[in-house]
Amino acid sequence: MKYSEQTLKYYDSINNVGEFDEKLPNVGTGTVGSPLCGDVMRLQLLFDEDDLIVDAKYKVFGCVSAIASMELATTLLKGKTIEQALAIKNSDVANSLKLSNIKRHCSVLAKEAIEAAVKNYLEKKGEGRNDNGK
Ligand code: FES
Repeated sequence: MKYSEQTLKYYDSINNVGEFDEKLPNVGTGTVGSPLCGDVMRLQLLFDEDDLIVDAKYKVFGCVSAIASMELATTLLKGKTIEQALAIKNSDVANSLKLSNIKRHCSVLAKEAIEAAVKNYLEKKGEGRNDNGK
């Protein structure tokens, strides 16, 4: 598998691997898995009292593209509001990393992890969203 220069750049400069205490009320945790390849991602978002994302950490059991997707996504997420975080598209990640068609699902997983982590945080706050994410 040949990876793009952009993918290898993020893969080679990993800063955001790690975890927060998932019991903290201001931490949202999202764990998602790909039915296509079996890879799993866990994203955690740390929020301040204004619901701003102040930090983001992840763990990936998966491929180079999945790791690069999460490294880029966590970098993008810091400083974002919930609305801005949910506005990040998988195509933003896939295009930035120049993912090949066969690897685009790695960026979809990153997008799903963002949605799951936000949902978990809102549920903890008692502001869970309805089924269609609105
Ligand atoms: Fe499945 Fe990358 S090959 S997440």
